Amino acid sequence: EKGGYDHFMLKEIFEQPQTIFDSLRGRLDAEQQTITLSGVDKIKDKLIAANRIIIVACGTSWHAGLLAEYVIEELCRINVEVEYASEFRYRNPIITDKDVIIAISQSGETADTLVAIENAKKQGATIFGLVNVVGSSIARLSDAGAYTHAGPEIGVASTKAFTAQLALLYLIALKVGLEKQTIDSTLFNKLLGDLAKVPQYVHEILEEQDSVIKEIADKYSDARDFLYLGRGYNFPIALEGALKLKEISYIHAEGYPAAEMKHGPIALVDEQLPVVFVATKDNYHEKIVSNIQEIKARKGRVIAVVSQGDNVAASLADDVMVVPQVHEIIAPILSVIPLQLLSYYIGINRGLDVDKPRNLAKSVTVE
Ligand code: F6R
Repeated sequence: EKGGYDHFMLKEIFEQPQTIFDSLRGRLDAEQQTITLSGVDKIKDKLIAANRIIIVACGTSWHAGLLAEYVIEELCRINVEVEYASEFRYRNPIITDKDVIIAISQSGETADTLVAIENAKKQGATIFGLVNVVGSSIARLSDAGAYTHAGPEIGVASTKAFTAQLALLYLIALKVGLEKQTIDSTLFNKLLGDLAKVPQYVHEILEEQDSVIKEIADKYSDARDFLYLGRGYNFPIALEGALKLKEISYIHAEGYPAAEMKHGPIALVDEQLPVVFVATKDNYHEKIVSNIQEIKARKGRVIAVVSQGDNVAASLADDVMVVPQVHEIIAPILSVIPLQLLSYYIGINRGLDVDKPRNLAKSVTVE
C-alpha cells in the first residue's frame, strides 16, 4: 500500500505531480484560458461584493491560508484576514453578512475550525469550505466549496494536501480576480500557464533534487535548531518548512520573515545554526540576497532554495536546492517541495517514525 516507498510520507511527497494535477483537472483550461469552479460560481456575487475574506484554519492549512492572503489581496484587491481557528472562535470576532469565510482543512474534521465556522455562519457570514475529505463535517457545514482532490493522506504530517490547497487557492484567486477585473489579462495568462505546468515542474524537482537533498540532510541531521527565512510569497513557506521539520525530526525550528531576523532571531546565529532561506526569484530578490549575506557574515550555515539559473544566491549558500523559475506568485508551491524532502530525510537519519510523529494525530477533533 506504500507503493514501493518506505513510508507514506515519501509516497505522498512523490505523488504530488499527480495530486496537483488532479486538483487542477477539469478546472483549469490553459488553452481556453478559463477556470471552472462551480463552488465559486455559487457564491460569486457574495465574493465580489465581500467586505473582506476571513480565512480560518490550523497548522499547515493555516500556512496555505497565509499565502492565500497575499495572493488574493494582490489579484482580487479584497481585504483578507487569516485567523487561527482556535483563536478566532474564542475572541468574539466582528462578523457580518458581508464577510466570506474560507475554511481550509485537509480532514474537514478539525474541531476548532468547525466550531469557528459554525459561529460565523450564525452571524450571517457565507462559508466556503476548502477540504480534502469528501463529505466531512466542514464540507457539510459550508454554503459552497471545492474539494482539493489530493486523495487520502495517511502520513500525519501534511504534504500533498498542502500543495493541493495551494493549487486550488490559486485557482480561486485567479477566478475571482478575473470576475472583478482586478487582474489584467497578461498576468492572468502568465499565472494560468505557470500553474498548468506545476505538476511537471514538481516532477522535475523530485527527479533532480531528491539525491541532492538526501546529501544535504546528512550534513545537518545533528543540528539542534534551525531557522527558516523567507519574504513575501515565500514567507508562509518558511513557516511551513519549519513546522514540517519540527514534526518529523523533533528538531526545534522557527520560521520568520527574513527581514524580521534583525529584530531578534539574528542573536541565535553562530557557526552551529543552519538557516534555510526560501530565496526563489521575485521582485525584490536583492533583499533576501542581502539577508543571506548577513547570516554568512555571522558564520551561519546557509541552505537555500533558489531558482534555476540564480547564481548569485546559489554562490552565497553552503548548500542549494534548485527549483524551476516561475512567476513569484506561483513559486511557493514549488519551493515547499525540497523542504518536505529535507524534513523527511532528516527524520529518517534520526531514526524516527516519520509517518506517525509522537504526540500528533491526523485529525484533531478535540479543541
Ligand atoms: C501539519 C499538520 C497539521 C494540520 C492541522 C490542521 O503537518 O498536519 O498542522 O495541518 O492539524 O488539520 P486539517 O487541515 O485537517 O484541518
